[in-house]
Amino acid sequence: MSAKKRIAVIGSGVVGQTLANGFIKHGFETMIGSRDAGKLKEWAAKAGPLAKAGTVQEAARFGDLVALAVKGTGAEDAVRLAGPDTLAGKVVIDTTNPIADAPPANGLIKFFTSLDESLMERLQKIAPKARFVKAFSSVGNALMVNPKLHGGPPTMFICGNDTAAKEEVVEILKLFGWEIEDAGAAEAARAIEPLCILWCIPGFLKNDWVHAFKVLRP
Ligand SMILES: NC(=O)c1ccc[n+]([C@@H]2O[C@H](COP(=O)([O-])OP(=O)(O)OC[C@H]3O[C@@H](n4cnc5c(N)ncnc54)[C@H](OP(=O)(O)O)[C@@H]3O)[C@@H](O)[C@H]2O)c1
Repeated sequence: MSAKKRIAVIGSGVVGQTLANGFIKHGFETMIGSRDAGKLKEWAAKAGPLAKAGTVQEAARFGDLVALAVKGTGAEDAVRLAGPDTLAGKVVIDTTNPIADAPPANGLIKFFTSLDESLMERLQKIAPKARFVKAFSSVGNALMVNPKLHGGPPTMFICGNDTAAKEEVVEILKLFGWEIEDAGAAEAARAIEPLCILWCIPGFLKNDWVHAFKVLRP
């Protein structure tokens, strides 16, 4: 993909800012969209000339490619706010996890979805013409951009219904230092999203938050 593509990141939290900084580091003009654009002033001032801050709707219009990085319980609202028509035809990287508000028990976070339905499938139904690709959901923000780990590049699990959209996301993930495991169509998010539960266990049990999955083959 061309380095001239404009990126929208919807969500101003740690994941939104980490991914936006990653896109900017790789030369992409990037706008973070928030329900309260004012809270991004400090980020925009520090992040350099390629950085922009706006509302969720402004960002969705701005981006040729959109990364959704909002709280799982707000993800459906965020897609409605961005506008299914605005997102139509655009690649939407879905980083979200359907984490419920209930606290973790014995290190296991709780989801508000079942194993028969993923959050990304719900989002795809709200914006059927958006080209959703699940990515970045199964690793902590500290390792999302060009992770340096013993054992080489870790594996990012992706899925989505649009093959060309996945190819674009693969290019980004390679730029961001990842190996890619394509798990297939959107419903594979039912398997990818729960990796977040597994990923968080060492964090809650041992305060170990810096690790990533890797698929090994002979
Ligand atoms: N933290 C990680 O290391 C990590 C790793 C992998 C995946 N994820 C996933 O990435 C997503 C973002 O995580 P995070 O840690 O950055 O912070 P977060 O607290 O989960 O999400 C923060 C963002 O969610 C937005 N938001 C909350 N409720 C909303 C609503 N009702 N409508 C629209 N937007 C809403 C807020 O947007 P405003 O700016 O508009 O307030 C804020 O920017 C989550 O789904 C999380 O599961 C996180």
